[in-house]
Amino acid sequence: MDVRRFIERQMEEIKETVGKDKAISALSGGVDSSVATLLAHRALGGQLRTIFIDHGLMREKEPEEVKAVFARLGIDLEIVDARNEFFEALKGKIDPEEKRKAFRNTFYKVFGRQVLKSKARYLIQGTIAADIIETRGGVKTQHNILEQIGIDPEKGFGFKIIEPLKELFKHEVREVGKALGLPEIIFKRMPFPGPALATRIIGEVTPERVDLVRKATRIVEEELAPLQPFQAFAVLMNDMGTGIEEGKRKFGHIIIVRSVESQDAMTAQPTPVPWDVLTRLASRITREIPSVVRVAYEITPKPPATIEYI
Ligand code: XMP
Repeated sequence: MDVRRFIERQMEEIKETVGKDKAISALSGGVDSSVATLLAHRALGGQLRTIFIDHGLMREKEPEEVKAVFARLGIDLEIVDARNEFFEALKGKIDPEEKRKAFRNTFYKVFGRQVLKSKARYLIQGTIAADIIETRGGVKTQHNILEQIGIDPEKGFGFKIIEPLKELFKHEVREVGKALGLPEIIFKRMPFPGPALATRIIGEVTPERVDLVRKATRIVEEELAPLQPFQAFAVLMNDMGTGIEEGKRKFGHIIIVRSVESQDAMTAQPTPVPWDVLTRLASRITREIPSVVRVAYEITPKPPATIEYI
């Protein structure tokens, strides 16, 4: 791929499509939406409004960090606090697709309100080729594939969608990000799914359970950073396991550590994590999160497993 040519072509196309109208971008801080937003910002300048929907399912300090990075790129990110709305929608839901649906519907409700407020006619989305292929193939319904969920954005919300990265795979998106001057901490970032930590919680998604998986995720990311995995994270199981505390039996949570190597997320292999790193992970997670009594390492490739747990 000729990256420069791709950027020029997409900027021209975005400018032409939007014309004198306004566009809005919902940034998640992940590679895809960051690259799409930066591309649109370069093409549209002040005609683009960039919002960050804080659904309460982000990793530690993520909203603040993303805001700071984009401020340095000249993009003023508006943080929309929708945490209560998302937790309310996810309450009591345990079925994976039900959770995805609740997340997606809430996302578009919150987002729709922002679009109406900003009078934008266009939505910039960081959909990439793998999202489309996997949704059409029935692997999952990505939160951003509107055609799949029967939403007509133009009828429902009055906006049209622009997806400048829809023909690219992850590694190409990173190349575009690099060429656009996106800092390494964003374009080298591990992929992070739209429905965020909800994809890493088996059972109900509550603020307490999110907090737990968030803490474990930070530890996993810290310990595995030197290995530079494609993606590494913690998953919270629904069952409890038995542990010991001060010589007595106690029931606690079970955390699964998942780390995979992949090119495009369509297939993946478990990272061969050295034993000493794995044992350090188990000891840090159980020590720093005392309600966790067991830590396991997942060794299933994709397929047959998917990368995320829901
Ligand atoms: P799976 O779990 O299907 O994930 O093997 C493949 C890749 O996609 C990411 N992922 C998502 N990304 N919205 C996204 O933007 C989603 O709903 C979603 N679900 C999974 C996942 O992290 C992995 O990199």
